[in-house]
Amino acid sequence: TRRACVIGWPVEHSRSPVIHRYWLNEYGIDGAYEKEAVKPANLGRFLEELSGHGYVGANVTLPHKEAALGAAGAADAAALAIGAANTLWLDEKGALHASNTDAYGFVTNLDAEAPQWNEGVGLAMVLGAGGAARAILYGLLAAGVPRILLANRTKAKAEALARVFGPQIEVIDWDERAAKLSACGLLINSTSLGMTGQPPLDIDISALPGSAIVADIVYAPLLTPLLVEAAKRGNAVVDGLGMLLHQAVPGFERWFGVRPHVTPALRAHVVATL
Ligand code: ATR
Repeated sequence: TRRACVIGWPVEHSRSPVIHRYWLNEYGIDGAYEKEAVKPANLGRFLEELSGHGYVGANVTLPHKEAALGAAGAADAAALAIGAANTLWLDEKGALHASNTDAYGFVTNLDAEAPQWNEGVGLAMVLGAGGAARAILYGLLAAGVPRILLANRTKAKAEALARVFGPQIEVIDWDERAAKLSACGLLINSTSLGMTGQPPLDIDISALPGSAIVADIVYAPLLTPLLVEAAKRGNAVVDGLGMLLHQAVPGFERWFGVRPHVTPALRAHVVATL
């Protein structure tokens, strides 16, 4: 039995076991996927003993994504550029490899849900400047988006990201976010606003072109107030669940040897747990 896990602190809320166990069952694989609650102080030792704990690899969630990259002996280009890892695996020699599949998950989901997006969104706007924003910026630039407006309540964090990713990122004031929408073909919320228990994202989207796509990384609720508003005025909307499902694909393939599919049945299975 090949075993993988998700490591977090806390980890109880993670939906990764639901996704990976669905696929293990779907493809008839002799594998298991567990949750591991590991305190930050113990992460290094846990990863050193990953194989001893019986695992061939792991997903890593908050607050461990940066430390997991540091603990790995090798990392892919995405993990290095994003400065964080969400997927780990052990090679035949026992060396720990780190990958970041969040950018892949975000872009692959956009491709699936709004395939017109990459035929020229032109200008994109990303709201937020945390770890999720960093992965999304990397993914959008890798996919060829020429220019991205970046707005964050704490402007210094947006400016730090612009220094990482270069002149294609233009930082704007948080208060300018609504006014600058008129030139945007893609609007992405990467903040936690709109999540159950949080205030909604406060943005007037009346200037956004009708052809623009609106994406949210929040998936509980599936349709955030932002997406409800966008759908009401006819914009294509992309929810955050698809990113979560797609980011899981490369890890599952790595650990269990089968490239799994993101299907409507998987989506429905996970939605039932939200
Ligand atoms: P993650 O790593 O998941 O992206 P994070 O690093 O905590 O999480 O980032 C959360 C994002 O949501 C940040 O951009 C944060 O803005 P600040 O950098 O100013 O903190 C944003 N955010 C959270 N609550 C917010 C609020 N009430 N208004 C505006 N932005 C908010």
